[in-house]
Amino acid sequence: MFFIKCLVVAVTLCSVTIDAKDWWENEVFYQIYPRSFMDSDGDGVGDLQGIKSKLQHIKDAGLNCTWLSPIFSSPMVDFGYDISDFRNIHHEFGTIKDFEELSAEAKRLGIKLILDFVPNHSSDKHEWFQLSANRTKGYEDYYVWVDAKGFDKDGKPIPPNNWNSNFGGSAWEWVESRKQFYLHQFAIQQPDLNYRNPKLVQEMKDIIVYWLDKGVAGFRIDAVPFLFEVEDLRDEPRSYDPKALPNEYAYLLHPYTNNLAETYDMVYQWRAVLDNYTKSTDNVTRIMMTEAYADIKQQVLYYGNDTTPGAHFTFNFLLITDLNTNSTAHDFMFTINKWLSYLPLEYTSNWVLGNHDNHRVGSRYGAQRIDGLNMLLMVLPGVGVTYYGDEIGMLDTFISWEQTVDPIGLNAGPDRYQLFTRDPERTPFQWDDSVNTGFSTSKNGTWLPVNENYKDLNLKNQKAASFSHFQLYQKLMVLRQEKTIRDGDLNVKALSDNVLTLTRTLTGHDSFVYVFNLGGEKENVNLEPYTELPSKLKVELTSVNASVSFGTTVSKSGFTVGPYEAYILSAQSLLSSSTSYLDTLFE
Ligand code: NOJ
Ligand code: MG
Repeated sequence: MFFIKCLVVAVTLCSVTIDAKDWWENEVFYQIYPRSFMDSDGDGVGDLQGIKSKLQHIKDAGLNCTWLSPIFSSPMVDFGYDISDFRNIHHEFGTIKDFEELSAEAKRLGIKLILDFVPNHSSDKHEWFQLSANRTKGYEDYYVWVDAKGFDKDGKPIPPNNWNSNFGGSAWEWVESRKQFYLHQFAIQQPDLNYRNPKLVQEMKDIIVYWLDKGVAGFRIDAVPFLFEVEDLRDEPRSYDPKALPNEYAYLLHPYTNNLAETYDMVYQWRAVLDNYTKSTDNVTRIMMTEAYADIKQQVLYYGNDTTPGAHFTFNFLLITDLNTNSTAHDFMFTINKWLSYLPLEYTSNWVLGNHDNHRVGSRYGAQRIDGLNMLLMVLPGVGVTYYGDEIGMLDTFISWEQTVDPIGLNAGPDRYQLFTRDPERTPFQWDDSVNTGFSTSKNGTWLPVNENYKDLNLKNQKAASFSHFQLYQKLMVLRQEKTIRDGDLNVKALSDNVLTLTRTLTGHDSFVYVFNLGGEKENVNLEPYTELPSKLKVELTSVNASVSFGTTVSKSGFTVGPYEAYILSAQSLLSSSTSYLDTLFE
């Protein structure tokens, strides 16, 4: 007995000394889409004072960090990703003073604020673009300008190559006054900035420092792969994607406009800006998370290396891009291990379940699977990312062609907009069952309609219920404080096509087992393949639809899991002397 106690002390001491994790490495980052979180002034559009008034919700959920989609001055063609002044706040969202108040309140509550840095392009209404279009000295090369390849028989300028914009159509737009084309890899109103111009590069670094001085904890960096293009402007090759039309982005492959060597280097330079800031101030890490939908081998290059670090993490979108409602447990196992196989060992993992560019998790996988997926996000090692509303299981909202405002949807036209539009996942947060779901007092509707399901599906109901998606989310956030979840090993096993399981284990600490029945039939689950587990396991957490309750003991060799049910089971460590904190969780 004494020997075991000594061992426990030794293991504990040892883990204290080796637990050198930085503040962000086990956090769950909560993404707020500012137009849709909370409207304080009744104009139907969310704003900074609205966010400030609801920061407590983030705390209640158990979260400490939020990243905000862009809040800067913008004509709102791409709802903030078209910035006309990188140092100011968009008028519908408020003022710099509102930002400072939001920041102070976040600080008071212990919530870190991450801003969206959009370096690839500005708005065409940005002063720089106007100056550049006029060839004003010093600004001529702030954007990517190119002569026409020639002129057709009607005198119409011919674009320099076949490049398509992400939002459909040519990536080139002619400016008559300058008699040149400019590059826009997104909307026409989002001209690409020219990163081959050192003055522009410095300008963008200064903007990073400007917001750091305002107290932000770091940046989510938008559209990183697109920073540089090949200088000889070669045509891009065909993808032969049978679903893509010739004017669509997917019609081509993008080796000459995506993930160039210079692009990685730019990310490493920004990391140096952050690190220097940290070193010259308070030594608190300012983080950078990069958005790059790319091949996994390219994606991990954004991390940099020991001598030249890059992103603290680059979003792992595999739970969005590689899996969906038809995926089997084997597909999940393969995808989780895929990320971990390529992630350099010394880096922290991360898992993104949703964002403003993809359909909501409940709509991609089916509403019955929301809890199972939130549970998966929370038991996987490293960082998690939750899109606002996913903690209450919000679903996509049907948006008609007439209601469509997303530029990708609009460009695609009435017949194809449904394939591209991002409006369905951007509707107002569902606070309660009152007018406009408590999001806004507007009498003229909200910028996107509220989902019709709001009378039932809202935060207020979920707080009052005996159990709910939100209450499960809160408990998961508590569970994440367990040392095993923070630091333990991961082992994923598909026990059948429908039964996904994983264990988290750490010597001297309780083990946890995650079990998810992805299918619509009940399954008999046998956890014997996990030889390290004891014969009896305790049910710690369940999905809302579960038939077995918390605290029940189940047998490792066989227990029944109903359709779409998910469980987190625990096994007490032979070495742990005291009761688990989980014993207090459901008192
Ligand atoms: C990625 C952002 O997430 C998306 O919403 C935006 O349209 C493009 N980048 C362009 O900035
Ligand atoms: Mg408002």
